[in-house]
Amino acid sequence: MTSDKRYNRRSFLKGTGIAAAATAVSWRASRAGEPDPAIVNLPDHSKYLGEGVQAHPYGSPSQYEANVIRRDVEWLTATRESSVNFTPIHDLDGIITPNGLAFERHHAGVAEIDPAQHRLMINGLVEKPLVFTMDDVKRFPRENRVYLLECAANSGMEWRGAQLNGCQFTDGMIHTLMYTGVPLKYVRETKPAWMGKRMRAIGFLLRLAAPMALVPGAGRTADIALGEYLAAECVTCHQLSGHSTGGIPSIVGMAEGLFIEALTAYKRGERDNDVMRNIAGRLSLEDMAALAAYFAAQGPRR
Ligand code: HEC
Repeated sequence: MTSDKRYNRRSFLKGTGIAAAATAVSWRASRAGEPDPAIVNLPDHSKYLGEGVQAHPYGSPSQYEANVIRRDVEWLTATRESSVNFTPIHDLDGIITPNGLAFERHHAGVAEIDPAQHRLMINGLVEKPLVFTMDDVKRFPRENRVYLLECAANSGMEWRGAQLNGCQFTDGMIHTLMYTGVPLKYVRETKPAWMGKRMRAIGFLLRLAAPMALVPGAGRTADIALGEYLAAECVTCHQLSGHSTGGIPSIVGMAEGLFIEALTAYKRGERDNDVMRNIAGRLSLEDMAALAAYFAAQGPRR
């Protein structure tokens, strides 16, 4: 826990107690005809010149906001580089998180990315790989969108019971920011080579020729590594050993066309099974093709 003693619960309560008492006193004083010094005395800041307008070329928060900062929890992560910093949600007004207070999660420290060296690459299940520099991307029409992002682990530490002493730490893995970006459809339309055509062809073939043994091309282009990554969710039920257990069929070594067709049928609600409808509903055709390629490669069907 940060050793910021001002923010522990007891001093907070004491603080509010004092503040409440002070309010009561000034109210009584003003009733008794004693003026409130914060009203009748000239405030300090009006008695001398402030800093030059360029003193801080990049704006920074007022000293009176010094407590409004992100904080981490020392014992929560193994290293300071692979860690989280929590947004001080208790100190914020309104829904937009200031940029400097946005919750961040890093696994290898904060990366310093030079925009001039940054590349957006579209490759994998595409007919023609594309690469864009930041200048290329900036030529497209931009959109601003407000998004709330919440870490999947937010409040997770509390599942074992109360462990942290404030909402910044229990629920601060969250931020709401205005993101500026370029919709992928513009990037895609610039060069019609990207995956739209192939995907439409696969969908069309599926409707025409189901059931069939193989979707032409799907196996060759699908990303097995992506399939392996996505398969983590599946293998809790579908055994990689290829055995069917308790009504759960084996999907190892299944023909890729049948595999995609089965998932598409669950997704469209044409095949009945709540679990698989739910799971397939979240998969894109690209995901399905990757999963199909991965499971097909796990050996012959047993
Ligand atoms: C909670 C358990 C569970 C999980 C997780 C799960 N499945 Fe299934 N899956 C089933 C069951 C049960 C069936 C059989 C449903 C039926 O009777 O139609 C099935 C059927 C299938 C079928 C059709 C098999 C055939 O022989 O027709 C495919 C393909 C499939 N699952 C793929 C997947 C993939 C890919 C994932 C991961 C993204 C996944 N499943 C995750 C339980 C699960």
